[in-house]
Amino acid sequence: MRGLPDPTPPNLSLPDVVGSAGTEPIVQLHGVGKRFASGLEALDGIELSVARGEFLSLLGPSGCGKSTLLRIIAGLSEPTRGTCRVSLGEPGKPIPSGRIGFVFQDPTLMPWSNVAANAELPFRIAGRVGAEERDRVAAALRAVGLAGFEGAYPHQLSGGMRMRVSIARALVTDPELLLLDEPFAALDEITRLALNDDLLRLWETRRPTVLFVTHSVFESVYLSTRIAVMSPRPGHIVADLPVALPHPREGARTSPGYAAMCETVSGALGMAMTDART
Ligand SMILES: Nc1ncnc2c1ncn2[C@@H]1O[C@H](COP(=O)(O)OP(=O)(O)OP(=O)(O)O)[C@@H](O)[C@H]1O
Ligand SMILES: [Mg+2]
Repeated sequence: MRGLPDPTPPNLSLPDVVGSAGTEPIVQLHGVGKRFASGLEALDGIELSVARGEFLSLLGPSGCGKSTLLRIIAGLSEPTRGTCRVSLGEPGKPIPSGRIGFVFQDPTLMPWSNVAANAELPFRIAGRVGAEERDRVAAALRAVGLAGFEGAYPHQLSGGMRMRVSIARALVTDPELLLLDEPFAALDEITRLALNDDLLRLWETRRPTVLFVTHSVFESVYLSTRIAVMSPRPGHIVADLPVALPHPREGARTSPGYAAMCETVSGALGMAMTDART
């Protein structure tokens, strides 16, 4: 990311990925609901279709079911109503390992393993760690600005560096679908802004499909090509807003278009909260 050694320069004239006609959605949710065994209804009537290459932010209040929704898309949890279809790999076959990358809110690193071993975990789980895999780990660590820290242990890293390891771990398999659950929420503002830029550069270069959970209107507008605003629990999508700001986005935070979009998204979120109270 910072000093990204990627061979492909950022694509400055990105194709229109928002609602592109003819693009098969990579994620399709229809009437998705989730009621936990406790009886708590976390999600209700989720309709969502995500095209390849989109950067979609899921924005909603705490407890509205964002993490639950991400877990359903990742295949870590089953919906209790409706259907969730993720189109990766060959039709009708199980999704090949490594096609989905998941970054949790907490870095969840193994404290007894160094940076390289932590980033290598997806390959260890798949039972393949050879020269090619080690090269990929080195490239992912370079991409997140951690070259030179391969041998460091988590307790020797800052919070931002630990999160970078977690992102590298999700990137080593070069996933087509990247799911991020409030990855920067616990970080200070300066680190968060820097990681926002790094993530954007990575998306502009590699163009995975990204689903990014956040509480922050400003972060969602800066990063996304589209924002889905969720209602309070049971969560459903109350607004689906394309973000028309051009890429690259550096400098966008001070543009009138950015301010106007933040106002639109804040309004949609405010409306969702008001409707829930009435
Ligand atoms: N395994 C579970 N069993 C019972 N209830 C659960 C379970 N997991 C989550 N919930 C409940 O479902 C609701 C949605 O939780 P979820 O973690 O998806 O919210 P969230 O939008 O991600 O919140 P936050 O922004 O605070 O992370 C919450 O009320 C939570 O208590
Ligand atoms: Mg959550």
